[in-house]
Amino acid sequence: MTTVKQGKALNIKDSRILIAGAASLVGSHTADLLLKEGAREVLLLDNFSFGSMDAIAHLQNEPRIKIVRADLMRLPDLLAATEGVDGVIHLAAYMTLGFSQTPWQAVDVNIRGAQNMLEACRVNRVKKIIFASSNAVYGYGSGIKGALSEEIPFHSVGAPPAAILYGASKIMGEQLCRHYYQSAGQDYVVLRYSTVYGERQHYRAANSLYIMETYDLVRKGQAPVLPGDGKDTKHFVHVSDVARANVAALQSTATDVAVNVSGPAPITTGELVQLVLEYCKSDLKPEVRPDPPGKVRLTSGGAFHIPHDKAGEVIGWKPVVQMREGVMRLLAWREQQDS
Ligand SMILES: NC(=O)c1ccc[n+]([C@@H]2O[C@H](COP(=O)([O-])OP(=O)(O)OC[C@H]3O[C@@H](n4cnc5c(N)ncnc54)[C@H](O)[C@@H]3O)[C@@H](O)[C@H]2O)c1
Repeated sequence: MTTVKQGKALNIKDSRILIAGAASLVGSHTADLLLKEGAREVLLLDNFSFGSMDAIAHLQNEPRIKIVRADLMRLPDLLAATEGVDGVIHLAAYMTLGFSQTPWQAVDVNIRGAQNMLEACRVNRVKKIIFASSNAVYGYGSGIKGALSEEIPFHSVGAPPAAILYGASKIMGEQLCRHYYQSAGQDYVVLRYSTVYGERQHYRAANSLYIMETYDLVRKGQAPVLPGDGKDTKHFVHVSDVARANVAALQSTATDVAVNVSGPAPITTGELVQLVLEYCKSDLKPEVRPDPPGKVRLTSGGAFHIPHDKAGEVIGWKPVVQMREGVMRLLAWREQQDS
């Protein structure tokens, strides 16, 4: 049984919640859920550098929504935005592909941006911050096998630099949260999401991109590509389950803790391709073809899974969307975009 430190819990109905990096996949679904749970106000902060209004267009006329165009790199923006706010969900960040393309901005936003937000929360006495971390804090590469529970150390041997930089930036963000807890009593919960997928999927996350690329190929009548023997594991989590975890973490009394947020079970790339073929009613046969040099793809080269039992104990959360259902929902949404 995990011993959990006790801090402030938010009653969503009385609260003003700010989502930083809201104009995207996780942010838009979290905003939908906060509104459904009766939040007093939900502030959607974004600089729209790679998120888009499309992801939050359905919310813009909702009276309890306020869209805040602001940049994490500007502390005055954040000081103004967090005034009178009860809780912050800090999502804005670059992921592995971003680190491979624009490492300079990625380092700034993921580290200084997180620090700016923590500082703004401290000044404005924000009750709780939820920090979006990632299973990237366990590293990638050939040594990643078995259960990736919250205690395992960072493994970087054999992984591309962008993936290591991304993981290391999330470790920095988590430790900045701990520092603010210890020095200023700032309550926080770190949620280490596994690969997020779902409706409003973007093309910026190396692993969910694989579902989208496979779908795009099959729809063009081309054979899906398996970069290995099809036994490589991925562990996804549906975005609606991630939104539930964000809200559960705000509502819980837990503080100064990090937990995994992963889907019900891992899946192999071979099984994933079969789900896409099934959705498309296609009998194309997957082609085994190694990735071209320089392609950023996160492979484990073996079997791993990400347990989420600690999230159950700490914030009372567990995933409910099975992979088959989630992939069908994502592809139905993707198909609608073309019609
Ligand atoms: N998507 C995944 O598979 C996944 C997996 C694990 C963890 N995560 C983490 O979850 C979080 C959210 O993921 P997502 O896929 O919704 O993210 P995303 O990359 O789609 O969205 C990030 C948002 O942050 C905004 N942003 C970037 N720089 C900014 C700045 N300087 N100021 C203000 N806004 C800025 C972008 O415009 C974008 O809307 C991220 O922290 C990510 O690292 C995501």
